[in-house]
Amino acid sequence: MEETQIPPILEKDEPLEEDKPPDSLPRPARPWRVAVIANVKGESTPTAEAEDASAEFDSKDTIQAIQSAIETDGHSTIFLQADSNLPIRLNQVCPDICFNIAEGLGGDAREAQAPAVMEILHVPYTASRVLTNALSLDKTMTKRIWRDVGLPTAAFQEFVSGDEPISADLHYPLFVKPAREGTGMGMDLGSIVHSEEQLRQRVRWTIKTYQQPALVEEYLCGREFTVGVIGRSDAIRYSRMPHRYEADGFIRLPVMEVESSESATPGVYGHYAKTLHPGEEGVPQFLCPADITPELARRLQDLAIKAHTAIGALDVSRVDIRLDAQGEPKLIEINTLPGLSPGFSDLCVICETAGIAYTDLILEILYLGASRFGLLMESPSQPIDLPTPAYMSTTPIQKS
Ligand SMILES: Nc1ncnc2c1ncn2[C@@H]1O[C@H](COP(=O)(O)OP(=O)(O)OP(=O)(O)O)[C@@H](O)[C@H]1O
Ligand SMILES: [Mg+2]
Repeated sequence: MEETQIPPILEKDEPLEEDKPPDSLPRPARPWRVAVIANVKGESTPTAEAEDASAEFDSKDTIQAIQSAIETDGHSTIFLQADSNLPIRLNQVCPDICFNIAEGLGGDAREAQAPAVMEILHVPYTASRVLTNALSLDKTMTKRIWRDVGLPTAAFQEFVSGDEPISADLHYPLFVKPAREGTGMGMDLGSIVHSEEQLRQRVRWTIKTYQQPALVEEYLCGREFTVGVIGRSDAIRYSRMPHRYEADGFIRLPVMEVESSESATPGVYGHYAKTLHPGEEGVPQFLCPADITPELARRLQDLAIKAHTAIGALDVSRVDIRLDAQGEPKLIEINTLPGLSPGFSDLCVICETAGIAYTDLILEILYLGASRFGLLMESPSQPIDLPTPAYMSTTPIQKS
């Protein structure tokens, strides 16, 4: 195997985090009361009826791991279920900030439900806001935006009935998936279709099973990568690890390759493959850093950051990319609430490879979120003439 040449993330002459004087880092004005907002498997009830409708929900262990990470920084934590009691519980608990990983219960923008509640109640929260979380769940809408700003994504068409004429831009084989799901739901080898008959059959099944449009796109036959994104144009001011950021305010994390040619569903990282744990039969291989040239790694990292920025994502995301038959990278989708299950979720593994411990990943997301609401005293040692990101020009959310 060719030696992987990912550029080093830590410069040799950079001081280590622990060597820096304490006042060179941003600090919370006081310890916060942090509410972790999530939908827990077995406790939250999805509104949809599909068998795998709660596949995106989190485990209690993940919530506990996030709480423990936050508590290492001196904050108190509480877990709140993102269900219809959330507004009442938020009013009772009055958190300083919410660490949001809620997948939501259903509807056409379930991942935007918890952020919408928090905005109505003027409660600060982490990661992307309402519009972006709604958009990123909807793969068709996301692809329309990427196409509009000139980012590469496979040719596609959305079907709402299955009877629509098929666009002349589409060439077989094609790939069919629910437009608004995650965790590989509704995706397996049957997603790859080779004829109009197969296409219509799969599209109708998808619409009926998931009660939503089906997205049909060109089947990308090349290698698959997932790229973690952490940052914001002014992130360095509020980061606990400012030395990791590049001038544009983003960390270049090592690229992960998902090699599924010998998995349970060869060539498709679908729902079944996503339920398997490392070591189990049929699990894809996860190679991080991916064995690719530094040029391709940089291209994928920059593309992921552009994809994140184009839909107004904030602070953290994970972008899936696949190469087409010509070896050109094409954006598949973006996860603005990437899984945070320690040692298992792609972003956590990617960060570990980069030397970013789970606790530091969680605290980075928390600090970047907190900085948007004036909860953090910014680092005095960082430059102050950084560009003001667009979210600042919107009505700031103030805690009442
Ligand atoms: N156009 C495509 N061509 C080839 N394979 C595809 C295509 N779209 C999706 N896939 C395969 O299906 C998998 C799941 O697709 P996608 O990432 O869109 O779904 P998801 O359920 O939202 O994933 P996640 O768990 O990352 O949220 C991909 O990782 C890839 O293996
Ligand atoms: Mg994906």
